[in-house]
Amino acid sequence: MSTVAVVPGSFDPVTLGHLDVIGRAALLFDEIHVLVVHNPDKSALMPISSRVHLLEQAILEEGLTGKIVVSSWSVGLLVDYCVDVGAKALVKGIRSQVDVAYETPMAIVNRNLAGVETIFMLPDPAHAHVSSSLVRQVAALGGDVSPYVPRVVAEFLEIN
Ligand code: PNS
Repeated sequence: MSTVAVVPGSFDPVTLGHLDVIGRAALLFDEIHVLVVHNPDKSALMPISSRVHLLEQAILEEGLTGKIVVSSWSVGLLVDYCVDVGAKALVKGIRSQVDVAYETPMAIVNRNLAGVETIFMLPDPAHAHVSSSLVRQVAALGGDVSPYVPRVVAEFLEIN
């Protein structure tokens, strides 16, 4: 039986930290679904379709293709998607205690809802300070985001 995991997030935009976690997850599971989820608590920079497109391009650029599917989900529970694709695990990158505090209640609720476990993965410390919100802020103020995001995202933010 093949093992399937979902790596969910807003990915607005995808960062090098996300790609690090996706790459690590791909070493542990047979199939990874990178899922762009609308987060109503955040005001979005990009439409979901652009985020999916940039993720696909970035995954290609990083040579992570093969077992990774990029998809999106905007209606219903995240665990409904997991059940649909046969995923028994969610994978989340954890940079700090703040992330642990934010993610822990969701992990418990997702397990209670559908028996889907959450695996907290530590990214490379080189990416510990990188977040999509910081990238959005630096880009909006005209700064260089290329150390934090894949090339396709840096180019996209430069011309948009
Ligand atoms: O990148 P983000 O914004 O931190 O990702 C958060 C996200 C989208 C993964 C989170 O908001 C989420 O899990 N949403 C799914 C909604 C859901 O199923 N909620 C009920 C159980 S927690």
